[in-house]
Amino acid sequence: MTEQAHDEDMNEANPRLVELIGSQIQAAGGFIPFVDYMELVLYHPQYGYYTRPRKRIGKDGDFITSVSIGRCFGKLLARHFASYLGRMGDCCRDLVLVEPGAEDGHLALDVMRELKQVLTEEVYNRLCYVAIEPFDGKKERLLDIFGSEDSDRFRVVSSLNDLKGSSGVLMANEFLDAMPIERLRWREGEWWRICVASDPQKATPFHEVEAPIQDPELAGLVDDLPIHLEDGFTIELNTNLKQWFHDLAQNFNLLYCCLIDYGFDGGEVFSPSRKGGTLRGYLRHRFQNCPFDAPGMTDLTAHVDFDRVKKSATSVGFDILNFTDQHRFLVNAARPWLLEIEGVGSTEDENRQLLKQFQTLSHPTMMGGVFKVLEIGRGVTAP
Ligand SMILES: C[S@@+](CC[C@H](N)C(=O)[O-])C[C@H]1O[C@@H](n2cnc3c(N)ncnc32)[C@H](O)[C@@H]1O
Repeated sequence: MTEQAHDEDMNEANPRLVELIGSQIQAAGGFIPFVDYMELVLYHPQYGYYTRPRKRIGKDGDFITSVSIGRCFGKLLARHFASYLGRMGDCCRDLVLVEPGAEDGHLALDVMRELKQVLTEEVYNRLCYVAIEPFDGKKERLLDIFGSEDSDRFRVVSSLNDLKGSSGVLMANEFLDAMPIERLRWREGEWWRICVASDPQKATPFHEVEAPIQDPELAGLVDDLPIHLEDGFTIELNTNLKQWFHDLAQNFNLLYCCLIDYGFDGGEVFSPSRKGGTLRGYLRHRFQNCPFDAPGMTDLTAHVDFDRVKKSATSVGFDILNFTDQHRFLVNAARPWLLEIEGVGSTEDENRQLLKQFQTLSHPTMMGGVFKVLEIGRGVTAP
């Protein structure tokens, strides 16, 4: 049995990662901010949950996403993006379809195959798909997957900064919820930073501690938070959003951007029913309440605060084109497609499957209600 297979079978904490985090905690004087812990357990280049070769998404992984339901999602997104790409094609020579968090490349393939059908040949020939993937192992896997397609049309780069001067569309499904977050707790009239300390002798090797907020940048962000909350109220704060949107604005001329994720808006983050925050772990479709169970083997995720996302985007010049739930977004995107559904799949059985996928993705009691879609733009207008 290889070391990898052994780790996969255990579905338990990765001992090397636990040791590494333990030594960072010791070097920092007894605790590290939760955001640093999350960065390590998800994105440590060797041992992180998202960097190791592992089947994460789908029935045989840890969780499902709209992409893993089937190709219906990608088909509908492609049709929606086509109107933006078609119009941008009038003024830009080269176009890109960019995707951070492409994971196993399925959405890329579904969207590009459909765009080939719906864009004019002239516009499609000027379009290139670009995945943004910082990790070498995942880059290679994506290139292998894209190798069987029209491979000149698929690229993988490390960061948004490799796309200077581009124009096109950015799509991101369940990318924002996987970004490491700070956790804060309202305690006795003050916000405290949730940090992580170690318990080397115990079965769960880490536990949380509350520390005063000393970091000036974080203190600045905390100044904007509400203060009339129940003692112990806990929230997650994505402190990387502003930089991410800044990089996006710096590198693109014309951009239409479609961000899909589960989350809230309208101050719902501070609703009394969310007192414990929204941080969750997933391992083999089981929900883990404790973020310290099986570090490196468990996905950690938090609901997206779309109020904060919109604020970060508009602060660097993006316009909000639309914000709605996945139900309304997909039903709208699917209108012309549903009318021509009989001609979409190659068989009646395939059409039935696509309609079933559509129902799972869009029904308000399934994925249609919880997931939200934020469309923003720079130099573009909604069709
Ligand atoms: C939940 S998965 C979503 C995968 C895919 N988009 C889907 O919908 O099936 C989150 C993806 O975002 C990527 N990701 C999120 N934040 C990242 C970060 N800060 N650095 C690198 N990758 C990140 C992860 O590596 C992972 O591939």
